[in-house]
Amino acid sequence: MKKLILIFLCFSSLYALAQKSKNNTAMKKLISENFEFAQKQYQLLEKNTPLDSMPKTFEKNHNVSSDVYWWCSGFYPGTLLYIYEYTKDPIILSTAKKRLAILEPVKTFTKNHDLGFMMYCSYGNAYRLLKDPAYKDVIIESSKSLSTRYRPNAKVIQSWEITDGGLKKKNFMGPVIIDNMMNLEMLEWSSKNSHDKSFANIAEAHANTTIKNHFRPDYSSYHVLDYNLDTGEVLKKVTAQGAADESAWSRGQGWALYGYTMMYRFTKNPTYLKQAQGVAKFILNNPNLPSDKIPYWDFDAPGIPNALRDVSAASVYASALLELGQYTSGKEKKEYVSVAETILKSLSTPKYRAEAGTNGGYILMHSVGSIPHDSEIDVPLTYADYYFLEALLRYKKWYL
Ligand code: GLY
Repeated sequence: MKKLILIFLCFSSLYALAQKSKNNTAMKKLISENFEFAQKQYQLLEKNTPLDSMPKTFEKNHNVSSDVYWWCSGFYPGTLLYIYEYTKDPIILSTAKKRLAILEPVKTFTKNHDLGFMMYCSYGNAYRLLKDPAYKDVIIESSKSLSTRYRPNAKVIQSWEITDGGLKKKNFMGPVIIDNMMNLEMLEWSSKNSHDKSFANIAEAHANTTIKNHFRPDYSSYHVLDYNLDTGEVLKKVTAQGAADESAWSRGQGWALYGYTMMYRFTKNPTYLKQAQGVAKFILNNPNLPSDKIPYWDFDAPGIPNALRDVSAASVYASALLELGQYTSGKEKKEYVSVAETILKSLSTPKYRAEAGTNGGYILMHSVGSIPHDSEIDVPLTYADYYFLEALLRYKKWYL
């Protein structure tokens, strides 16, 4: 009997090993096909984008671009750099450098909290890959600009200006959105790579205040909080891009997941890890997460299962879950990696990935910018492509 059990165990581990190796081969192929595709598509996107601007989306059969002060301006050069990292294509690199050059003036911009998205996804990757000290100077300068938005009494970085849109009419005083967690990566990096610890102090103060106020007991997060900037009192908990104030806007959950995972990377503070794992649990156990793991645009969107999906949220989840898997063990780690893998496989199918030569040059289709603002609905978006390629590179680096 003992012998039989031993033989059975031997066979099942051999079977598991064979399955793993088969899956690794499939993932290697999926990664290389996606980068080959991205390399060609982004040459088309470059042709479709005026030299003084950045790609924004492709709508009604037209490429739409933005000036460099739009919050997404860093994703295009960042994506080109990810393509270069995998392919080593010198033409893609020179395109990335050309686009970085037009972005540089943004380093002194202080009118919103998005400097991390804009300058770290772009210059952060450029410095990581090319080690040009001029790029590092741009990142540190950008962190100084972002730090001017820190409000010490409330211990938050203010997201939006009150002059923006209808915020003044709605009596906002100090709006902070969950997305802001993403901008902390540039601050943490800047402290680590300079003598100025104030950047990390600001990032950690903001992350701590956000844990205290921005989440519900089930770890889902509100989109927008309004603070009294003199006292730190929370005045409102509402949404701007979600379905309702009390709903869970899908991309917002992704920013929280990615943000606290990244904060744990820099600080090793277990509170941040616990927060990221809590957010992961909310997302992965949610009955409204479809089986292909591409979320509806809001977990409480009206019309589910016929509501629109948001591919950009899926890309953010995949990248964040792969990193969270690096700091977690056991069945949670297995689940994080397996869901990320499902997302990457789903996004590589014709349901979500464009056909060559279409989609204005973007890789992925079907993202949602903001339904309440009737803006960028069911279109390609730069950040969906960016976090998709980031996730593929992370998978290659950590799990193959
Ligand atoms: N930061 C804005 C968005 O996620 O749409």
